[in-house]
Amino acid sequence: MRKNPEDMKNKENQLEQLKQVMMKKDLPLKKTAHHIVFGEGSANAPVFFIGEAPGKQEDLKGLPFVGAAGKILNQLLQSIKLNREDVYITSILKYRPPNNRNPTIQEIVSHAPYLIKQIEIIQPQILVTLGNFSTKFVLSQFNIPQMQAISGISQLHGQPKKIKFDHYSFVVVPMYHPAAALYNSSLRKVLQEDFLVIKNQLQY
Ligand code: URA
Repeated sequence: MRKNPEDMKNKENQLEQLKQVMMKKDLPLKKTAHHIVFGEGSANAPVFFIGEAPGKQEDLKGLPFVGAAGKILNQLLQSIKLNREDVYITSILKYRPPNNRNPTIQEIVSHAPYLIKQIEIIQPQILVTLGNFSTKFVLSQFNIPQMQAISGISQLHGQPKKIKFDHYSFVVVPMYHPAAALYNSSLRKVLQEDFLVIKNQLQY
């Protein structure tokens, strides 16, 4: 099923249509951003990564995780023998918040439906949440008012959780955001160990 080329084309078309719809909307942060950073990777990806929001490099290039944090993400992927083309990578917000400030609730409310649609189209086995925002959003079962009730990433990282959403279930693996390893080198080792959880959870 995952290797069916027609199924793959259909998902690629659905993702492209969703991107076109999103680009036409007058969403928060659109005016100050250079580009939409919709997402990148395989429409049939078994592993789907969710970051927080595009940074400066991502905003300039229109692609997710292409700055310093992206380099770390690429190395972590290689460490478990995955390429960027094998997975799907996006963030909750698709436009950069000025000066990389934290997303507001209103921004999450406006952008998150597109993330949910991306997940529904791709139907990955594993959702990897990078950092506090995406971890809280996904583990609250995409229920924004419930996000505050979810523990922080330091308590949850590397522990897979099964989540049911509508008729579909997947495994969530929370991780520290790769950018955290830029400022705290001991987190690099933690991320490397947590990435092995993805490998162990992956069913080919
Ligand atoms: N951080 C994110 O959360 N997303 C990106 O695309 C880049 C950095």
